[in-house]
Amino acid sequence: MSAPSAPSLDVVAFGATSFVGKILCRYLLEEFGAHGELKWAAAGRSKAKLEELRDSLGAEAKTLPLVVADAADDASLRKLCASTRVVLSTVGPYALHGEPLVKACAESGTDYCDLTGEVQWIRRMVQRYEAAARRSGARIVHCCGFDSIPSDLGVHFLQRQALRRFGAPCTRVKMRVKAMRGGMSGGTVASMMNLVKEAAADPALRKELADPYSLCPAGAAPKVRQPEVRSMEFDADFGAWVAPFVMSAINTRIVHRTNALSHQAYGADFRYDEAMLMGRGLKGQLAAAGMAAGLAGFMLASAVGPLRAGLERFVLPKPGEGPSPDAQREGSFDLRFVGTTADGHQIRTKVTGDRDPGYGSTGKMLGQAAACLALDVGTGDGKAAPPGGFWTPATIFGDRLIERLTDHSGLTFEVIPDSRS
Ligand SMILES: NC(=O)c1ccc[n+]([C@@H]2O[C@H](COP(=O)([O-])OP(=O)(O)OC[C@H]3O[C@@H](n4cnc5c(N)ncnc54)[C@H](OP(=O)(O)O)[C@@H]3O)[C@@H](O)[C@H]2O)c1
Repeated sequence: MSAPSAPSLDVVAFGATSFVGKILCRYLLEEFGAHGELKWAAAGRSKAKLEELRDSLGAEAKTLPLVVADAADDASLRKLCASTRVVLSTVGPYALHGEPLVKACAESGTDYCDLTGEVQWIRRMVQRYEAAARRSGARIVHCCGFDSIPSDLGVHFLQRQALRRFGAPCTRVKMRVKAMRGGMSGGTVASMMNLVKEAAADPALRKELADPYSLCPAGAAPKVRQPEVRSMEFDADFGAWVAPFVMSAINTRIVHRTNALSHQAYGADFRYDEAMLMGRGLKGQLAAAGMAAGLAGFMLASAVGPLRAGLERFVLPKPGEGPSPDAQREGSFDLRFVGTTADGHQIRTKVTGDRDPGYGSTGKMLGQAAACLALDVGTGDGKAAPPGGFWTPATIFGDRLIERLTDHSGLTFEVIPDSRS
């Protein structure tokens, strides 16, 4: 029997015809061209839709390779994996469509990254395919979009600065969303609604979702009680009122997994939470109360079948819909971090993005994560390449992705002078 031929592609973008997939393909074309340093292809289940996408990308994309594969057709996924070193996937909800591809990648030794924020699904994938990924050498990296790259790499960046300045990591870190402009897509809504539906039907899952260490490997979860902003409160470190931040439910789990995988590099008693800054004085207090009540009402409505159906039908975007190109261009985000060491030294940092967080910036983050897997991490930078298994963005990419994102994706990672901003 002849040896299998080497993959001809570096990256295949599966789900290229999704709302976020189209943004991502446009970005990959701008950054890498159709046949440049990164050899990539667009993949999806419909040949006609893929051709339509390629046409919409202009003359430069005329010879961009296309791969037809269906998430429900195992043979097509195996073929897709054999053609490339890295698959990135935007086919969601991942809990509904994602497992066969993760299985195929883990078993075939193909590196993989995606945009999921579905904690319950990530946990299932780790439990089911970690051993196969270790055997085959496949590096699997979930959460390579707005959830959870800015949080995970933001804490990684802050800790690097803290170690440099104080010789110790910050054992308490807060992330606060100072500003965020953007919208939601139908795919994100479908993923959120599926999670709410699963949780409403399963008390064990509700318990799992409430556990801040649910993505830490067995036996590696610290005993420390984690802080959580559940309602409005005053944050003395920022001199402002804060309200709950919906993405903290996934971001905090990824940050704790990073700490666990890196042998508690942030400290065995590391504490982390996320919230939204709502302003100072009475105005800030009222805004925080409004935001907390609005979020609680939305979660409640999503959990009740008929109300959820009404939201899906009349209020929220449908699959394939999302913020307009203008809204993406005019969008942005500004995240503030404050870290405190065990002996009281404090450092403040920020992470910003120049497009709307969920789509314009997320497309660029996922594209660079895939490029980092294919071009940087794959070679191990001259050192041994990281072994197969389920990683987090910070543990596998670290500074290499920060560099890519600041050089090519409009993100900034900065230390800010000590002030109350
Ligand atoms: N982490 C983040 O920050 C972030 C940000 C944005 C989005 N997301 C996630 O990304 C995912 C995509 O979001 P979106 O709004 O772009 O979704 P969308 O527009 O609804 O697209 C879903 C895609 O899945 C494809 N698909 C469905 N079933 C398939 C199958 N059996 N085989 C192959 N492809 C199949 C669809 O193919 P067709 O085109 O052929 O219909 C479509 O392209 C969602 O899970 C969302 O939650 C995460």
